[in-house]
Amino acid sequence: MTAVLAQGLRKTYGEKAALDGIDLEVARGTVCGLLGPNGAGKTTAVRILTTLLRPSGGRAEVAGFDVVSQPRQARRNLGLVGQGAAVDELLTGRQNLELFGRLYHLGPAAARRRAAELLERFGLEHPGPAKEYSGGMRRRLDLAASLILAPPVLFLDEPTTGLDPRSRAEIWRAVRDLVSDGTTVLLTTQYLEEADQLADRISVVDAGRVVAEGTPDELKSKLGGDRLDVVVHDPERLDRAAEIVGRASGGPVEVDRDTRHVSAPVSDRVRALMDVLAALSAAGIEAEDVALRRPTLDEVFLNLTGTGGGR
Ligand SMILES: Nc1ncnc2c1ncn2[C@@H]1O[C@H](COP(=O)(O)OP(=O)(O)O)[C@@H](O)[C@H]1O
Ligand SMILES: [Mg+2]
Repeated sequence: MTAVLAQGLRKTYGEKAALDGIDLEVARGTVCGLLGPNGAGKTTAVRILTTLLRPSGGRAEVAGFDVVSQPRQARRNLGLVGQGAAVDELLTGRQNLELFGRLYHLGPAAARRRAAELLERFGLEHPGPAKEYSGGMRRRLDLAASLILAPPVLFLDEPTTGLDPRSRAEIWRAVRDLVSDGTTVLLTTQYLEEADQLADRISVVDAGRVVAEGTPDELKSKLGGDRLDVVVHDPERLDRAAEIVGRASGGPVEVDRDTRHVSAPVSDRVRALMDVLAALSAAGIEAEDVALRRPTLDEVFLNLTGTGGGR
């Protein structure tokens, strides 16, 4: 069943299209990653899907409810962690969560109970106010606040932007836990690695459009198969090694003199690997490392959007 659906979603501001016809289909219990650079339209899409903004065109559903004509039913099925923090820094985590519980119309006892559950689950039992929290704890508190009513569909707008790697890993773990409990997640991110780690399917968004869609693996294969990397021991033999790799590849060879690294795309992976090993050995060239690898999502992203400079 489809948890989130968008068809030809548009949003214009004057002449400018923030969203220029976005299609999405997120199956229940899966994670969809909206991956794109700053200004791509990610927040605009999330705001429309969470009923906070009206689309200029197209339509969207959450849990089967139209976000424009049935906003209340849609809202009852969704939670949102926006880009800005929603919690009160002067209150403790417990006070914040109890307050959110009351805002969601829980009675005092139920609000207390739910706050206690979420505090424990997200490791937020700190006695002081939220302003004493680390960045990761604050983000987890935001996440907990959006889960008071255990919504089946959760929207996370750049949940880890600005966090250190450890806090980021904590958020990733929390998201994985939610998904294993059956929650559907749509998250936006500028981080390729985050989409790769968390998302079942990724929609790459650029300038208000979906420029590519698929599983992380599909996106990587679209870029043209695997790559063969060789690190040569002796810098003097680098050019000869590049020649050998080039012959096995048939594609453009990249050489990095500083790291003594030779890399090229290969179609027939195992054959190319064996040919290169045999030829290196015959030429008496010592390799420190030889590896077949998938292209990184960074390479995919650069290729699709052209942002971040050429490679
Ligand atoms: N209220 C607004 N008025 C005018 N332009 C806007 C408004 N909100 C967003 N935009 C523009 O729409 C584009 C997409 O913005 P946004 O959805 O915030 O991107 P992202 O979240 O991917 O960084 C940007 O070019 C932004 O400047
Ligand atoms: Mg944004």
